[in-house]
Formats: sequence, structure tokens, C-alpha cells
Amino acid sequence: MIEKNAYYEVTFTDLTHDAMGVCKVEGFPVFVKDALKGEKALIKVIKLNKNFGFGRLIEIREESPFRKLPICEHYHVCGGCNTMHMNYQTQLDFKRYRTQETLSKLGKIKTEVKETVGMNNPYYYRNKAIIPFGMRGDKVIAGLYKQRTHEIVNIKRCHIFPRMVSEMVRYLKSLFYELGIEIYKEDIDQGFLKAVMFRHSEIDHQMSITLITRNGKVPEKEEFVRNILERFPNVVSIVQNIQPDQSNVLLGPKHRVLYGKDALNDRLLGLEYEISHRSFYQVNPIQTEQMYTKAMEYAELKPTDRVIDAYCGIGTIGLSAANKVAEVVGIDVVKDAIKNAVQNAKNNQIKNAKFIVGKAEDVMATFTAGSIDVLFVDPPRKGVEKKFLEAIIKLRIPRVVYISCNVSTLARDLNFLQANNYTVREVTPFDMFPQTSHIEAVSVLDYSK
Ligand SMILES: C[S@@+](CC[C@H](N)C(=O)[O-])C[C@H]1O[C@@H](n2cnc3c(N)ncnc32)[C@H](O)[C@@H]1O
Repeated sequence: MIEKNAYYEVTFTDLTHDAMGVCKVEGFPVFVKDALKGEKALIKVIKLNKNFGFGRLIEIREESPFRKLPICEHYHVCGGCNTMHMNYQTQLDFKRYRTQETLSKLGKIKTEVKETVGMNNPYYYRNKAIIPFGMRGDKVIAGLYKQRTHEIVNIKRCHIFPRMVSEMVRYLKSLFYELGIEIYKEDIDQGFLKAVMFRHSEIDHQMSITLITRNGKVPEKEEFVRNILERFPNVVSIVQNIQPDQSNVLLGPKHRVLYGKDALNDRLLGLEYEISHRSFYQVNPIQTEQMYTKAMEYAELKPTDRVIDAYCGIGTIGLSAANKVAEVVGIDVVKDAIKNAVQNAKNNQIKNAKFIVGKAEDVMATFTAGSIDVLFVDPPRKGVEKKFLEAIIKLRIPRVVYISCNVSTLARDLNFLQANNYTVREVTPFDMFPQTSHIEAVSVLDYSK
């Protein structure tokens, strides 16, 4: 019988959704981080649950030809990336395979899953970074959390954020120390600065900085802002967000603008967007353009179409479609995002788009059957509510383009639509998050009765 802390020689036969190698020890499934399919290795069993266990890779005995030396020195401790040990084509193949498997096993969907659309340079792509700060002795540290912990890995350089972010983090560590800006201590819920959120724009490499703090005012505020601007003149917005609660919700309800305004502007597919610190914005601009282009192609838009952009954020999908259709209606639950969306329509001289604050599932139920031609859906990881799916069916929307960052909830939702007169025509995965196992996928469904 399999035993905890014992060593076993194994062969990996599959990969889990989060890219762990799957092997069997005496018929019992064990998942091991950093192992690749086809590899033989010595593992140590470190945890046993009822139906599966976890192991640690001790020594690779037969290495996969698809293995790659990670370029990041923090890779094996940091929880940020988990596929950097695969060569890039293998990462793309893995994502297509996982999409296909999940859709067919979980959703009972038989459809064509295209090749994953990858990047020419799958590094330094992420335009948003949230970096927790902490103390180690009397030293300020900052980085990403170790996987499944709140332990900060003090990172010198990250290979998925723009290089400038690593430079800013290094600078802020010493600036906070010099100005006596107290770092938050999570274990005792004391201190001031919890984390810093950085956003980078494709327009002149402009950046915004959000200090996420417990409460109170930023000490030495003028000095802080002056130092930042002197060192990084491309910073256009500095905001303090106040999160007094010790919770997993990152941003608190209140904020103060310390410099500029609460907005960063970026450009996507020829349109310019204003993004407030609280609004969702896709993290990979290169892949977002590719993905939206595919979404528009799938939608087969016509000049007479009335289109809904559900879960619209700052309006990027709907506004990209607006010049091809008669009318766009965007829906999002975050007030600041809708404020941005309305402003974005104005700034881009788009007059046929309107935006509604509300839960998509509630707003959808207010439209009349037959009045909508195309629906774009781009929900958060948990997918959509059943009420939302029921509204789609009731409205008999001819074409639905469902964009998802979680193929499990996508499979669940597509399964429901498939059982109600919709056919999943095609799915294309996009590598929005290279070096990680996260998958973004665009699917298109047609209604036929
Ligand atoms: C994955 S983002 C997509 C945003 C946008 N489509 C884009 O491409 O940038 C999901 C969005 O859903 C919004 N959201 C979450 N739950 C919602 C709900 N029940 N109703 C409407 N919007 C919701 C979030 O505020 C967020 O803007």
C-alpha cells in the first residue's frame, strides 16, 4: 500500500489542469509539480488524500524532450508561474489538450478545438502586477506569494511583468524604508502598506501605481510622489486604495488620488481606453487584440445587429464591435468600470453604445425575445449564473460568443446551452497567460430550433 514519506519510482502519464504530472503508485493517482508527461522519476509522497495524493519530484531518471530550463531563478519557489519548465510549443499544446479534455469530459461537448494562439515572445507580457510587501527582520521584501501560501518570495526580477515593474519594486523597497512608510504585518494585522498594484500602458509606457494600504494617510506623501516622478517620469497616476479589512478581497471601498487622476489610458485595436484602478482590464494586450479579433470574426457582425456585451468591464469588446453594428449594450456590475465605459465611448466618438450598471443575470432578463442578434459573454472565473443562461435561451439569441478564463465553468455553461438548442461551432484557446497553466478560450455557439 502507498505510504506517506516513502519514495517511489514512477512514470508520468498525464498532466492535471494546473500542469502537475500524473503518475500512479500501486494504482493510486499521485500528482507531482514540475513533472512532464512521459518522464520517469523518483518521487517522495508528501500528502495522501482519500482518492489521490501529492508527491515531490526528487530526481528525474528519464527526461522529456519537451522540458526546458526555466529562465527565472525564483521559478521553483514562487507561485506565479507553473509551466516554465515546458518548452513554449508544449505549453500551447497542453492548453489545447486541457480545453478539449475539459469540454468533452465535463461538458460532453464535441466540437473542434483549434490550436492555441501563442505569442512570439511569451515573456514580459503582463500589464498588471499586484505585489505584496512584507518585512523579513528589518528588511523590506516584495514579490509574489509562494504557491498556496501567504509567504512572500522576495523577487529580484520577474519575467512576466514588464522589466520596469521589477525596477520599480526594487526602488519602492528602499523608498518605503527611507520615508518610514510602515509595511503591513499580516500575522498581527498591524502596519500600513499591504501591496502595490502596477499597471502598464502600451501608450508611451505610461504607468499607474496603486498603494493598497490598511488605513490612514500616506506619510510623507509629497516626498513620496516627488521621488517616484523624478525616478519614473512615465508614471501618470498614483492612487492610495484603503482596505481596512484582513480579507482576501484585495481592494477596499475607498481611495485617494495622490497624483494625476484615477486612470491610465491604453490603446486596443485602434481605440483608446481609460481604466480606473478598480476596473478590470485584460492583462495581456497583445493577446487581447488577437482574441478580440477572433471574437469579432466568430460573431459575424452585420450593420443591422443589436449586440450585448455582457460582463463588459470598461467596454472594450462592445466598443470594438460598435462600428460594425447598429447598437451595443454593455453590462457590468462594477460602477467604476461602467463610468470608464461611458467615457471610453465618448472619447472614441462612439454614439451607438450604451452601458448599464447591474448584474448581467438581472439585466438580461429585461430584454425581449428576438431583439438581440449577438451576445458577447466574458464572465469572471466562476462563469455565469443559471439565470443568465436561461435568459439567453428565452431571448433566442442567434449567436453567442463566450469568452472564458476558466474552461471548467465554460464546459458547464456550454453544456447547459447545448441542451437547449445551441450548437458549439468552434473553440479557440488563446495563450493569455504564458508560463502559467491558465487558459483563455473563445467559443461560438449558434441557435437553431
Ligand atoms: C473577465 S472580466 C471581462 C471584462 C471585459 N469583457 C474585458 O474583456 O476586459 C469580467 C467582468 O465581469 C464583471 N462582473 C462580475 N460579476 C458580474 C455580474 N454578475 N454581472 C455583471 N458583471 C459582472 C467584472 O466586474 C468584470 O469587469
